[in-house]
Amino acid sequence: MHPAGPEGALMVIARRLARADASVCLTGAGVSAESGIPTFRDAAKGLWSRFDPEQLASADGFRNNPDLVWRWYRDRVKAVQDAQPNPGHVALARLARSLDGFTTITQNVDDLHERAGSADVVHLHGRLTAYRCLECGTPVQLDLAQRLAAEPSVCAACAGLIRPGVVWFGELLDGGLWQRACAACQQAQVMLVVGTSGLVWPAAELPLLARRAGAHVVEVNPEDTELTGWADTCVRGRSGEVLPVLADQVERMVS
Ligand code: OAD
Repeated sequence: MHPAGPEGALMVIARRLARADASVCLTGAGVSAESGIPTFRDAAKGLWSRFDPEQLASADGFRNNPDLVWRWYRDRVKAVQDAQPNPGHVALARLARSLDGFTTITQNVDDLHERAGSADVVHLHGRLTAYRCLECGTPVQLDLAQRLAAEPSVCAACAGLIRPGVVWFGELLDGGLWQRACAACQQAQVMLVVGTSGLVWPAAELPLLARRAGAHVVEVNPEDTELTGWADTCVRGRSGEVLPVLADQVERMVS
């Protein structure tokens, strides 16, 4: 805890952000939790609690039981559609508007950052609104009825099954997006790490890269995580409560 309390700690972080030429934020499922989207590892109601993640989020799992995997993602499409961005998403969009050189990197596959007003978000783990053929890889646009259908569509080019365009277990991240994320972290003077357990690599490496390159790393999370030991400052709280205060302070400093 900062000697001047949570507000004092946020003031110091706001000052660092306002002075920085470049800053970056890495978000995880915790940022969307306050919009009613469960996190992955919440023991009671987390997204992986009822299923083996390898069965739901892998190409093999999709081949073994395409309808089950498809319906699981279809339910997530519906849940995201029904959800609204929360004050944490809105605060990050405000920070991006107020600060020069602020990059938002997310592990989330929802579009709540964009719907809150953030532009050019680096979606390391893909997006729920993107689809491609499981066999030939051709990107495919699906209309809402196809996205919400009980079974996956079929590729017009090769008759393969259409899969969600998210990164599954055992798959590599998009090389261009990863390079962009690494460059942003290596240039940043301040990095916010918000709502992620830091358990999934290589995304969890980004705060380490930033720290080694000299950034001040700030964790915003109600709990300790794998990344806590790497953070220069930890703010224990919910992103929807902490980030709006930070955005208010930054806006006052840069206006
Ligand atoms: P996790 O479910 O692993 O972690 C969520 C984190 O959010 C935890 O550290 C919680 O303490 C924190 N949290 C919960 N509520 C919060 C709140 N209101 N404000 C701030 N933090 C809060 O989710 P991720 O770290 O995002 O990958 O998981 C990383 C990746 O693992 C996901 O992108 C997904 C999964 O496997 C793929 O699908 C490829």
